[in-house]
Amino acid sequence: MSETKENYIPKHIAFIMDGNGRWAKKHLMPREYGHSVGAKKFREIAQYCADKGVENVTVYAFSTENWKRPQKEVDAIMRLFREYISEAERDFGKSDVRILFIGNRNVFDEDLQNEMSRVEKLTSDRKKTLCIAINYGGRGEIVDAVNTLIALGKKNITEDDITRSIYSGAVPPPDMIVRTGGELRLSNFLLWQSDYAELFFTETLWPDLTTDEVDCLIETFYQRNRRYGGI
Ligand code: IPE
Ligand code: IPE
Ligand code: MG
Repeated sequence: MSETKENYIPKHIAFIMDGNGRWAKKHLMPREYGHSVGAKKFREIAQYCADKGVENVTVYAFSTENWKRPQKEVDAIMRLFREYISEAERDFGKSDVRILFIGNRNVFDEDLQNEMSRVEKLTSDRKKTLCIAINYGGRGEIVDAVNTLIALGKKNITEDDITRSIYSGAVPPPDMIVRTGGELRLSNFLLWQSDYAELFFTETLWPDLTTDEVDCLIETFYQRNRRYGGI
């Protein structure tokens, strides 16, 4: 079947999950509570997209700049991350999605790094992918890729070399990048991969995002005319 605009499902949607802190404030709750509600929302939206046939989903969970936040908040986010990994390991048979972590994982303790690798290995034979960007920075990703290539002895580095060497490797670039929380910027997210991504910004705070709004965003995506520099 040839792919018309109507039956084309985006192959990759990336989410900048922003607005947990403001959501908590609005509900007179501590920021940490916003992150725990946001973590539940992440599970819901990622599964919804996979069930809809979106083959690749990426979520921005923690940036290389987010360490600047108060220790209490960083600890809460890391606790939620550990909880998610343990759950993914325990329930790996229940899902049909491969989990991939993108970001610099050297900062995490050995136990956590091993657990991340185990989850990736356990789920590696699956067709759909969920990329979780944790301690991720787009500039750092490009620098890491270049250094990997230098270590391999490459002299003339091509765009294809970098595309193959970034953390997400074989995952195609995002068709859509959706940022919740109303800010109009990428905040160091997928800088290499976003070259021709369609960008979507919604005022909705991440914990308030609904599957209906995801459907609306995909509908809007169908109305965009992607020219890639052509006419
Ligand atoms: C996004 O929500 C989650 C992380 C950055 C970890 P924020 O915590 O940035 O929420 P706001 O932007 O302060 O509302
Ligand atoms: C981007 O949100 C990072 C994540 C959603 C994980 P931030 O809240 O850190 O971005 P800025 O500081 O508003 O640019
Ligand atoms: Mg924010």
